[in-house]
Amino acid sequence: MAVYGEMILWSFVFLLAAAVGQTVIYSLTSTCAVRGSTVTLPCTFTPRKSFNDGWREVPLKIVRVRWCKNHEICHRGTPSVFDSNSANSDPRYQYLGDMKTNCTLQIRDVQQGDSATFRFRMEADHPEGHFTNTTGVTVRVDDLTKMRIISSSDDKKLSRGETVTLLCASVCTFHQLEVTWFKDGHALSETGPSLLLCPLTAEDSGNYTCALKKNMKTLSEPYSLQVEAGAADGVLRLVLGVVFGLLLAVILLVLFIFIIKRKLAAAEHQRAVGGDPEQKHPDSIYSNIMKSAQTEAAQQQEPGRAVEDVSYASVQFKQKKQEGRRFQAADDDVVYSSVSSRG
Ligand SMILES: *[C@@H]1O[C@H](CO)[C@@H](O)[C@H](O)[C@H]1NC(C)=O
Ligand SMILES: *[C@@H]1O[C@H](CO)[C@@H](O)[C@H](O)[C@H]1NC(C)=O
Ligand SMILES: *[C@@H]1O[C@H](CO)[C@@H](O)[C@H](O)[C@H]1NC(C)=O
Repeated sequence: MAVYGEMILWSFVFLLAAAVGQTVIYSLTSTCAVRGSTVTLPCTFTPRKSFNDGWREVPLKIVRVRWCKNHEICHRGTPSVFDSNSANSDPRYQYLGDMKTNCTLQIRDVQQGDSATFRFRMEADHPEGHFTNTTGVTVRVDDLTKMRIISSSDDKKLSRGETVTLLCASVCTFHQLEVTWFKDGHALSETGPSLLLCPLTAEDSGNYTCALKKNMKTLSEPYSLQVEAGAADGVLRLVLGVVFGLLLAVILLVLFIFIIKRKLAAAEHQRAVGGDPEQKHPDSIYSNIMKSAQTEAAQQQEPGRAVEDVSYASVQFKQKKQEGRRFQAADDDVVYSSVSSRG
């Protein structure tokens, strides 16, 4: 029995030490949400573990959690937006928490009536464990706050090829709502809160605005973006210029060679058609031979015979050109004799 008493005593000491005051912490005590959006009210709680009823330490257990709108204590029959004991809560109010430490509430499709202060209450299996933090979370439903554009770059003048992200932001929550982006007044296809421009081109320059799709009253002030030709761009242009110049030179060279080749081929062709080069060359040889024959004749024989020689040679050459070589090789005497026999 003494052992039991000691254990209980020590348990009391332990439980007393552990029985810290219950708390409910709202991470946000005020927030603003756009109508139609989804807003989350983060919340954590620490329930009381036990209480002393004067005789002994009585453990406590949370049996009910609730969220109320615009009620200081949220107790007894107060209407609540969420009640773990009730099955017919409005489905727009989603309790994301549990029965132990998390009391986060999410409000979907925020309505004008949600402009209110929401408070969380926990109820234990004994009233000693009931607690409401009356600070609560104040929600303001706002439809008129303008969106604003935040750029990922501090510089409004950007260079081509750079990357920039424009963020359509609001001081109010607009979670789950679509955003419409405009460039110089024309709607873009993007519907997300961020607009990625990558890589930047000169065409991206302009005045950007954004608004919530359902509410043009939220249209932002224009954000002017200027895309300039950067240093890298100049180098690129130089490289392109050099490449283009080289290409042009190569094309001209190829064209030149082609024309020369065609001219040469044409000349060759004409020679082949106009007369056999094998026969043309002998012609000039014969005339030379003719000349030498003439001079020889003039030296060795009388002028009269020489004339006959020439006329004979001419006749011979024209009729039987291929025989010129034989004639060339032949003895002069033979030729002359044959000429004399004719004459
Ligand atoms: C009530 O909530 C406020 C805001 O979160 C917090 O600062 C305060 O400590 C809470 N009080 C208790 C007793 O939990
Ligand atoms: C509470 O639950 C919500 C939803 O599950 C979660 O997003 C949040 O991080 C939780 N908070 C803590 C403190 O665990
Ligand atoms: C952008 O707006 C400025 C004045 O805010 C104006 O001077 C400029 O012409 C506009 N640019 C375009 C492309 O509309």
